[in-house]
Amino acid sequence: MSELSLDQLFTQRFGETPSVPKALSANSALQRIASRGSCRRFTSQPVDPAMLEALCAAALCAPSKSDLQQRDILIVTDPLLLQNLKSQLSAQHWIENTPAMVVFLANNRRQRQMQSWHNQPFPNDHLDAFFNASVDAGIALAFFMAAAEMTGLGCCPISTIRNHMSEVQRFLRLPDHVFPIAGMAIGHPAQPPTISARLQLSKTVHLNQFSDVTPQDLHSYDERRLDGADGKGWSADKAEMYAFPQRVDFADFIRSIGFSLD
Ligand SMILES: Cc1cc2nc3c(=O)[nH]c(=O)nc-3n(C[C@H](O)[C@H](O)[C@H](O)COP(=O)(O)O)c2cc1C
Repeated sequence: MSELSLDQLFTQRFGETPSVPKALSANSALQRIASRGSCRRFTSQPVDPAMLEALCAAALCAPSKSDLQQRDILIVTDPLLLQNLKSQLSAQHWIENTPAMVVFLANNRRQRQMQSWHNQPFPNDHLDAFFNASVDAGIALAFFMAAAEMTGLGCCPISTIRNHMSEVQRFLRLPDHVFPIAGMAIGHPAQPPTISARLQLSKTVHLNQFSDVTPQDLHSYDERRLDGADGKGWSADKAEMYAFPQRVDFADFIRSIGFSLD
């Protein structure tokens, strides 16, 4: 774990220091969170299956909207399934050496089954059903990642699983109203995490009133992010990324598995 105090870690992360209460400065749990980073390089050491199960249990301790628990986790250990999954994600070559993968599933199916088993109508077949299940799955993903990083494992979410939804849905044999929001690569890290700089706290934590960032705010953040993205800066890189269509068929796929998005 990092030798730096919480204040120092936050300064490194945000380029600004929040007012950290003195009592928290050496809080090891917060220091771990503040020094975390996604891991894309793993040793060849396999992940203990019991550890994967324990991390899934920790993930599902997360809160869920109205206690509906509309999220599940699929642990992928079957070698053929794992290979199939990796091959769908092969545009990202680092995934090849991932020892283990789990998939976070939004599950609105169970709710619909409960409606039917309890002879209740389901007059909530609209965008909210998709949204609630997706958010629950995202929160579980975050808990899983935090728990894994606490134990010294490394992980990285994989949203490109959504680039080939129909194929992934088919070979993971997922039924209607259940879909992956992201995969998660997990293993023993081959190197310590990198602290990736975040936008200024003063521009992203709003006190009583929302305010926009200015181009100058972004420029000063970009100066801190010249390390990556071919030196062009974060905002230019992200603007370029979103100048191309991505997953334009996503809504069609979600409708094809039974959701109404109206
Ligand atoms: C929902 C989600 C999906 C992500 N998908 C990918 C992905 O497909 N490939 C990848 O390399 N990183 C992926 N990431 C990791 C982000 O790139 C990473 O969190 C971000 O660059 C910040 O870096 P850090 O996590 O090291 O702080 C994803 C993260 C989240 C939360």
